[in-house]
Amino acid sequence: MVKVTIDPWGSFLVKDYEKLIGNYGLEAFTDSLIKKLPNPNKLMRRKIIFAHTDLIKVVNAIKNKKDFYALTGIMPSLEQIHLGTKLVIENIKYFQNQGAKTYVLVADLEAAATRGLSLEEGRKRALSFHIPAYIALGLNPKKTSFYFQSTNENVKNLGYIFSKKITLNEFRAIYGTTEPGRIMSSLLQAGDILFPQLEKRMPGVIPVGPDQSPHILLSRDIVNRTRSSFNFVLPSGLYNKYTPSLDGGLKMSKSKPESCITIPEDIEKACKKIRRGFSGGRNTLEEHKRLGGMPEKDMAFELLKQHFIEDDKKLQKIHNEYKAGKLMSGDIKDIACKELTKFMKDFNKKLEKAKNIVPSLKFI
Ligand code: TRP
Repeated sequence: MVKVTIDPWGSFLVKDYEKLIGNYGLEAFTDSLIKKLPNPNKLMRRKIIFAHTDLIKVVNAIKNKKDFYALTGIMPSLEQIHLGTKLVIENIKYFQNQGAKTYVLVADLEAAATRGLSLEEGRKRALSFHIPAYIALGLNPKKTSFYFQSTNENVKNLGYIFSKKITLNEFRAIYGTTEPGRIMSSLLQAGDILFPQLEKRMPGVIPVGPDQSPHILLSRDIVNRTRSSFNFVLPSGLYNKYTPSLDGGLKMSKSKPESCITIPEDIEKACKKIRRGFSGGRNTLEEHKRLGGMPEKDMAFELLKQHFIEDDKKLQKIHNEYKAGKLMSGDIKDIACKELTKFMKDFNKKLEKAKNIVPSLKFI
C-alpha cells in the first residue's frame, strides 16, 4: 500500500498533498467529516488539515461521550519550536476541549538515539522550555499528563515487544532507512502512541505533520499484528500541511533561517523576514490595481491564514480586499507583522508564567 518512503528525520517535502493521500493510504479530510466535528478549529475549517486516518473512531467517541485520547510528543533539541508544532498543539487543544485524555511526552530517548542529545540535557531543556511553551500555546496543564520516554517503563516495554512484529525489509519500505537508532525510536514511538490504551482500550488521535505519518502507519500495523495479545483500538492520525517557507518554498525550515520564523523569535527580525518574503503582489501598482493581488501565493497572507488570524470574517475581508487590488502586498505584510508581534508578546508573557507552574505539574 505504501508507495513512497518517508524519513521523519530527513527533510521530507510535499509538492502535492492529494498525491500523498493516495500514496500513503490516508483519507481526505472532507467537508462531510468536518460537519461531524463539534466547533471545528480554524485549521479544520481552512483545510490546513488535509488528511486523516480513521478519525471517525474519535468523532464517534466525542459524539457518544466515550473515552478517547489525544497524544503528541516533542524532541527537546533546540530551545525553540517551529510553527508546525504550533499547529499540532492547536489540534491537541481542540481535542482536549472535546474531552480527550491528553498526553504530551518528551522524546528524550529519540533525541538521544537520533541526535546524540544526553538525557540530562534533554530533561533540562524540556522542563525549562518545551513543556512551558506547550502550556503557553494553550494546553491546559491541569488536564494534561506529561512524561519522558526515558522514565516510562510501559512505553519502553511496548517498544521492545513490538520489535518482534516487524522485519527489517518492512521497516525499510516505510522509512527508507534502517539505522538502529531510528528503528528503536520508531518502535518506541509506537509505544508512545499505544500506551494510553494499556489502562483502557479506546480510540486516540495523533495530530502530526506529514513527516510523522510513517509512525502512525507503523503503529496501526502493530495493532493488527498484536491483536491476540493486546487487542488495541487502531489509533487515528490527523495530518496538517506544512507552513511554507517565506521564500515560497514548500516547507519552512531552520536550514534556511532567512525564510523561517521560530517561536520565540526576535520580533524585529521576524518582521524583516516577512517583509522580504515572497508576495502575491503584481509587478506594478497599476497592474496590481487592475488585476488584484494573489492571496493564495502570498506568504504573509499564508501566515495570517495558518497562524495569526482566528476570525474567519476578518481573514476573508483581507483576502477579498487584497484580491480586489485595494490592499497592496506591503499592506498584507504590515498586517502579518502586527499580528505576529501580538502573538510573540503574548507568547513570551505566557511562557514566563508557565515556567513557574512546571514544578507543580503531574508527570507519569
Ligand atoms: N518523533 C517526534 C518528533 O520528531 C516526537 C514523538 C515521539 C512523537 N513520540 C511521539 C510525536 C508520539 C507524536 C506522537 O518530534
